Amino acid sequence: MSPFLLTRTLPEDATDAALRADVLHGLTHTPKTLPPKWFYDAHGSELFDRITELPEYYPTRAEREVLIARAPEIAATTGARTLVELGSGSSEKTRHLLDALPGLHTYVPVDVSESALTQAGQALIAEHPELGVHALIADFTGGLALPGTPGPRLVAFLGGTIGNLLPAERATFLASVRALLSPGDTLLLGTDLVKDESVLVAAYDDAAGVTAEFNKNVLHVVNRELGADFDPDAFAHVALWDDEHEWIEMRLRSLTEQTVKIPALDLAVEFADGEELRTEISAKFREEGVRRELGAAGLDLAHWWTDQEGRFALSLSVAR
Ligand code: SAH
Ligand code: AVI
Repeated sequence: MSPFLLTRTLPEDATDAALRADVLHGLTHTPKTLPPKWFYDAHGSELFDRITELPEYYPTRAEREVLIARAPEIAATTGARTLVELGSGSSEKTRHLLDALPGLHTYVPVDVSESALTQAGQALIAEHPELGVHALIADFTGGLALPGTPGPRLVAFLGGTIGNLLPAERATFLASVRALLSPGDTLLLGTDLVKDESVLVAAYDDAAGVTAEFNKNVLHVVNRELGADFDPDAFAHVALWDDEHEWIEMRLRSLTEQTVKIPALDLAVEFADGEELRTEISAKFREEGVRRELGAAGLDLAHWWTDQEGRFALSLSVAR
């Protein structure tokens, strides 16, 4: 049986300190914001998995189609012995890569969600007894320290999660990914593409209301972790397309004038009737923009593959 290691790269109380800092900063500035990484407690990770199966949420199906079609080419081009996956979640699509990479020595899934890492890791070692799985509970924006495993190294960042970072955050993030690589190592990046507004908005405002529940989950997390008294029913889920920035914005709109108490921060937050709290951006991309952002970080785009309908792209870039 292959080893399954789970390493927490942050001290136990770091998550708590980071949540406090993000909530204090985000809810005391105008407009109010919260970073999307706080969606993903165990329930949030389950809700995201349900989103990936919704009829309106095409990115997962589109990316899986590209992965299945291109996995042999990715394997041949990269010759990867170590696969590091950032924001790996359920690792469900990653199976297509793992099956295709013949010389793979170690898989390193990295996620803030311990529940997702544990579930995915246990399933993977049963399916791939030859593979070492070294899971890391870590924030991929926080300067990663990777285990010493053999190269060539392939970093995968799937699902379009890079679109949840603001442009300046993306630049810092891509430079930090480049720093994990040696020249010739590779990055496999999933990016959702700009398309018709109605398709995009439907993907983030599904008829069954699962995305609304996912959005409101951040309020449950703040209630549980910081003793706050958010009433999720007093907020409405909002998804809108920002044509200037080419991103979807998810917000929570206060349905009334209200005050929310956050005892752990000794804070009372006032919401005006109709005031919106931004909880996520999900940027959509074009090939030239992706090439430029990768290039600025020292990564040369070598392949650009899309699904048949041109909805979602996987790019493979090589560290200079
Ligand atoms: N890659 C999977 C999951 C995407 S959901 C897919 O394509 O389906 C986004 C994942 O990133 C979640 O599992 C979430 O817990 C994780 N995540 C979000 N922000 C993170 C951060 N800052 N650091 C590490 N993981 C993060
Ligand atoms: C993880 N990430 C790429 C998802 C997205 O599409 O931006 C998160 C999500 N938000 C709402 N639905 C899905």
